[in-house]
Amino acid sequence: MDDIPLSPPYRLATPRLSLTAADPRDAPVVVEAVGKNLEQLRPWMPWAEQAPKLDDAVERLRRVRSDFDRSEDFSYHAWLGSKKQPEASEPGGRFVGATGLHSRAGEGGLEIGYWVDRELVGRGLATEMAMAMTQAGFLAFGVDRVEIHADPENEKSNAIPARLGFTREGTLRARIPFPGGYRDKVVWCLLRSEFAGTPSADLELAAFDALDRPLLLLR
Ligand SMILES: CC(C)(COP(=O)(O)OP(=O)(O)OC[C@H]1O[C@@H](n2cnc3c(N)ncnc32)[C@H](O)[C@@H]1OP(=O)(O)O)[C@@H](O)C(=O)NCCC(=O)NCCS
Repeated sequence: MDDIPLSPPYRLATPRLSLTAADPRDAPVVVEAVGKNLEQLRPWMPWAEQAPKLDDAVERLRRVRSDFDRSEDFSYHAWLGSKKQPEASEPGGRFVGATGLHSRAGEGGLEIGYWVDRELVGRGLATEMAMAMTQAGFLAFGVDRVEIHADPENEKSNAIPARLGFTREGTLRARIPFPGGYRDKVVWCLLRSEFAGTPSADLELAAFDALDRPLLLLR
């Protein structure tokens, strides 16, 4: 994308979470978590048919990270705690799930994705991730529009943009490629002009560049 800053946030800190640029070195933790969460992911995530193999996950995360480093698409891994990501084996390095700002929303926009470990759902952590992505989308990445797309049947996912003041713009038919056919998707959108006064604007958020230096979030 042309209008993405040279220094996107490689780390974001919310009151409860540390969001770090997806890294192939996270693969063992991600593989374990996806394997453990297949049942809750499979109905909604086309990639969650079966447990990923470690080497495939490393390759996928290498591509994902390469997209991040080239400022094309921004996937983050979420960890409990607001500190810099500790080693996964250290206490406090609890993997929560994944989120991101994806370029598939087209020019001027980024689309948020999210999933959370089933042991940690129901605590507002996905909402916190979505708030961080929304604020970063407008204040760090400078986009004009942040979107969330969800299957109409996915109540828990649709509840998040509804809670965050997004507008439900409509349902696109047969738009999510899925094993066995295409699924409909609901498109939720928040415009830059609507951002002030939403819960995402009020989120306490700190952003850091690739050298972990604080980044100014321009309001
Ligand atoms: C979609 C998904 C991320 C939602 O997770 P979640 O835990 O329900 O979402 P949140 O973290 O925002 O939590 C919301 C719940 O926590 C409660 N909550 C507690 N503290 C909260 C807080 N501080 N802020 C918001 N909600 C809070 C809410 O009341 C709500 O409870 P309810 O489900 O009983 O109504 C999760 O179900 C998931 O990973 N699903 C599989 C993957 C998926 O579908 N991804 C989306 C694809 S579009």
